[in-house]
Amino acid sequence: MKKKIIVANWKLNGSIKSISYFLSFLKSKIPLYSRKNIIIIAPPTVFLERVYKNIRNTNVFLSAQNIDVNINGAFTGENSVLMMKDIGVQYVILGHSERRLFHYENDEIITKKFGLVKKLNLVPILCIGETEIEKKSNQTKKILKKQLKSILTVFGETAFRNTIIAYEPIWAIGTGVSANPDDVQLIHQFIKNYIKKYDTISAEKLIVQYGGSVNSLNAENFLKKVDIDGLLVGSASLKHEEFLKIIEISDNILQKK
Ligand code: PGA
Repeated sequence: MKKKIIVANWKLNGSIKSISYFLSFLKSKIPLYSRKNIIIIAPPTVFLERVYKNIRNTNVFLSAQNIDVNINGAFTGENSVLMMKDIGVQYVILGHSERRLFHYENDEIITKKFGLVKKLNLVPILCIGETEIEKKSNQTKKILKKQLKSILTVFGETAFRNTIIAYEPIWAIGTGVSANPDDVQLIHQFIKNYIKKYDTISAEKLIVQYGGSVNSLNAENFLKKVDIDGLLVGSASLKHEEFLKIIEISDNILQKK
């Protein structure tokens, strides 16, 4: 049975106090809820080690929200993938629309970072998705192909093995307006078929999760879909009740299978 991957992307939120509070709930409930899921927390960089100390030896894993394009050197203010690995990070979110928009990361930069993550045997969580204007002008597939192609061109047809792809329509992120689960199912199918044109990998091994205004009320409708392999949760992952509810929903769905 394919596990669902539930990621908490805390973005630029949290404090020592709020994180301790969240983790105390997570630690007490996780043995009950997370048998069939893979749970990943992506805190701000400054809190990575603190979170790691609390989740070590559980089935909750650590993700970075970003890395620098360099491994080390004179790059004031940056953090490298090597350092991330050193402190227990196993996943790295790449290509998030907030980085593309506010930090001017283009496909070229994202591809470079993708290569660094792979080189160190960590797992990229590669975010792709279209804007509202692109959606309205029927360009969703074209945009997704372009974003995937930039990785395929550099790393070859097996690039997406051991990778999580997060389909995150930009218009659905932080807006409270999530995408329609039926539409997302079709898009995930499209993404998998596109990759399978190049790679002989089975659909079972490709992981495509959805992100964009997911909460405990709509999570089930996404997780029930056969090609939605998990969720990337932003604001709803900041509240332990919400996040644990989403994990519980996922566990229940998997248990029925
Ligand atoms: P959201 O964010 O759940 O707050 O929409 C999702 C994301 O940006 O990954």
